[in-house]
Amino acid sequence: MKYPRTVRIYEVGPRDGLQNEAEPLPTESKLRFIQLLRAAGLREIEATSFVSPRAIPQLADADELMTLVAKLPRDGVRYPVLVPNLRGMARAEDAQAHAVAVFTAASDEFTKRNIGMTIDESLEAFAPVLARAKELKWWRRAYVSTAFGCPFTGAVAVDKVVDVSKRLIDLGAEEICIGDTIGVGVPSQVHELTEAHIKAGIGLDRLAYHFHDTRGTALANVVAGLEDGVSCFDSSTGGTGGCPYAPGAAGNLATEDLVYLLDGMGIDHGANLAGVLDAAHFISGALGKPLSSKVGQAGGWDSATGQRLI
Ligand code: COA
Ligand code: ZN
Repeated sequence: MKYPRTVRIYEVGPRDGLQNEAEPLPTESKLRFIQLLRAAGLREIEATSFVSPRAIPQLADADELMTLVAKLPRDGVRYPVLVPNLRGMARAEDAQAHAVAVFTAASDEFTKRNIGMTIDESLEAFAPVLARAKELKWWRRAYVSTAFGCPFTGAVAVDKVVDVSKRLIDLGAEEICIGDTIGVGVPSQVHELTEAHIKAGIGLDRLAYHFHDTRGTALANVVAGLEDGVSCFDSSTGGTGGCPYAPGAAGNLATEDLVYLLDGMGIDHGANLAGVLDAAHFISGALGKPLSSKVGQAGGWDSATGQRLI
């Protein structure tokens, strides 16, 4: 089996990881978390969301946080922010953001509950956001959530996902991130989705996957993506997260679990497990919650000595 030699880990901890947390985390703790993620070698860190503070109160400090993040030395690190509309885009510009992610879904019922729009309406709302971001030469990503199943309407057809992805590419998205928002997906679905996107002209260099580990299938799905040649995967350090508008969604795939897997398979990704675990322990302490990740609980493992590593 030929796997990609290098993989991009797209860290969503500060955004997806925190958006569902009820207790407000101080802005300085979020900044510290981002600095630890950076120190761990992560090079794509989704920093926050410029959405309605009423929809996601935890990220209401996006303006202040992103302004601070933008002052960190860049060193090739990308800090995308979620933006739902032109209002959010103006805020992101003021805060010196440089990369944007828009987000819709493959199910109308989910987009209605999450952003108060149908898929068609959401694409209308994102068109000027993506156009403006292109004008500013920002990197542009688009999420297609609930691609593996919808919490309200059940099964989602592969064609529906591909249709939404194609429309997002036409609007100027550079990367499509296919999301298993509620963690119901299995590897055979990953293969079907990858194949259908490639057939539709959306190549491997434009595809990413976003898995939740709700039912323990996230790493199996990553391996399926690797088998397909996909080389970008989302994860959240500490395994935190979930969408408040997706009932039953548990945490994201944990970055430490992903890093452990990729290290063991000899696939380069640039992050180091010890640093990721530092950041994971920091965020679990700040949130007052035990680590849910497997590697967070068991530690790493040194193949030379057979001992627990960290
Ligand atoms: N930043 C700040 N405030 C915003 C905003 C933005 N980008 N967009 C809208 N608002 C404010 C409006 O000013 C209005 O405030 P008010 O009630 O105090 O007057 C309120 O939010 C509602 O705005 P409206 O235009 O009527 O939109 P809506 O209620 O249909 O909400 C979204 C649409 C997209 C703004 C909202 O649903 C949202 O932000 N959702 C994000 C959900 C999310 O992040 N989910 C997790 C990611 S998967
Ligand atoms: Zn997620």
